[in-house]
Amino acid sequence: MVDSLKKPDAAEMRPGVKVPAKETILTPRFYTTDFDEMAEMDISVNEDELKAILEEFRADYNRHHFVRDEEFTQSWDHIDGNTRRLFVEFLERSCTAEFSGFLLYKELGRRLKGRSPVLAECFNLMSRDEARHAGFLNKAMSDFNLQLDLGFLTKSKKYTFFKPKFIFYATYLSEKIGYWRYITIYRHLESHPENRIYPIFRFFENWCQDENRHGDFFSAVMKAQPQIINDWRAKLWCRFFLLSVFATMYLNDLQRQDFYAAIGLDARQYDIHVIRKTNETAARVFPVLLNVDHPDFFRRLDIAAEANSKLAAVAESEAAGPLKFLRKLPHIIGIGWQIVQLYLMKPLPAERSTIH
Ligand SMILES: [Fe+2]
Ligand SMILES: [Fe+2]
Repeated sequence: MVDSLKKPDAAEMRPGVKVPAKETILTPRFYTTDFDEMAEMDISVNEDELKAILEEFRADYNRHHFVRDEEFTQSWDHIDGNTRRLFVEFLERSCTAEFSGFLLYKELGRRLKGRSPVLAECFNLMSRDEARHAGFLNKAMSDFNLQLDLGFLTKSKKYTFFKPKFIFYATYLSEKIGYWRYITIYRHLESHPENRIYPIFRFFENWCQDENRHGDFFSAVMKAQPQIINDWRAKLWCRFFLLSVFATMYLNDLQRQDFYAAIGLDARQYDIHVIRKTNETAARVFPVLLNVDHPDFFRRLDIAAEANSKLAAVAESEAAGPLKFLRKLPHIIGIGWQIVQLYLMKPLPAERSTIH
């Protein structure tokens, strides 16, 4: 029976439309870039690889994949309380991240059209994939009686400007870490089907192949611009992006351990695995990788995660604004200190035979 008087699961802007989560340094971002600089890039040194990737995108292997089957058509009211809240949050964060990719790629496809045709078509086809991913997640949210107003999100979110090379570092890593996140959840639930509390996880295997191909595209673009992965600046920036992406995920996920526990995963072990795998993968294109096997690496991340959970507790407390800030300050400084120390840890050289 439908209980129309049931309390809403989260703050709503209109009935069934969720107020987007508050933006913090750890929420998924929206990006914009210098479109002219990107259009003028000479990609000829790696054009063959890029064209091969374009053919893969055109093949559209997942054309028929994102179809909701009858397993979705049931009540999900048994997922309740904190698990439901965390589950909706997981769907929202994932949907926002996918949608952020869609917007950026769509705009790049539009702006590069006629100026850099191979890149423009690749971006268009990647935006097709991300639209499917975001749409599928948003539809999943509607199973929990909520949806995100993506049009509102497009207009209301702040856009972060990155020069093209930073867009490449950041999107390459987010695609590859996305691949490892999805495939790790998929493989875990394949061997522990009793923990598959909702059908969306069944789709992750083919889904993550989209992310893997997107990552390969950015890897090929960086190889077409060898100066952005070969000099001393590249080493410093790659360290920075690796660390930011890993630390952001670690702090976010450890704050949401109950969600991972609901699908039978230990958030910390899951993150350690994803970080190791992404770090190894990135070594195929980045000039350095982080020394994640050093005992200090996860020790420092754990201290930062602990400070982050204290920070969250202060943020949720009733204290007045200035007092709240003062209480937050030591934790913010604590996290910052650990991140700086992590950044200063000696990286490892990426050992690979060739960079084109
Ligand atoms: Fe995606
Ligand atoms: Fe992607």
